[in-house]
Amino acid sequence: MQRVEQLKSLSREHHVSLVMSSRIMKLVKEGSSEEITAKVIEVQQYYNDELELHFQHEEQTLFSTIFKNYPELRTLSTQLLKEHGEIRVLCQSMTAESAINDLTRFAELLKSHTRIEERELFPQVEACFNAEELAATQDFQPDTF
Ligand SMILES: [Fe+2]
Ligand SMILES: [Fe+2]
Repeated sequence: MQRVEQLKSLSREHHVSLVMSSRIMKLVKEGSSEEITAKVIEVQQYYNDELELHFQHEEQTLFSTIFKNYPELRTLSTQLLKEHGEIRVLCQSMTAESAINDLTRFAELLKSHTRIEERELFPQVEACFNAEELAATQDFQPDTF
């Protein structure tokens, strides 16, 4: 999918999320219990190292501009923000005991969330945001804890 330059890094991260989701879906059907347990740890690492930052990047740039200036995109954005919350909770509460259910839910949610951003949100952002707002999508500073 064609993307404006300013959204390309987020789109590349979406590609990583979609690959991660497909691998998990395959693994929960065919993997051994050791592989499934190892995947829980891998997903939690992915969340800590990459996904949380991806969410913060979207929240601080795309969603904050939308809530300020583009009321027509608020309904979709509210749904996507709610999904960030659900994915965060899932990643933080995932355990080896409930690995199959947790991984399946995570993979399904991450895949549908990412697809909606790529197919619905990003095209609308590209159409609505002015040059300054688009440029600002690249100014992301992670929260420090
Ligand atoms: Fe998102
Ligand atoms: Fe995203």
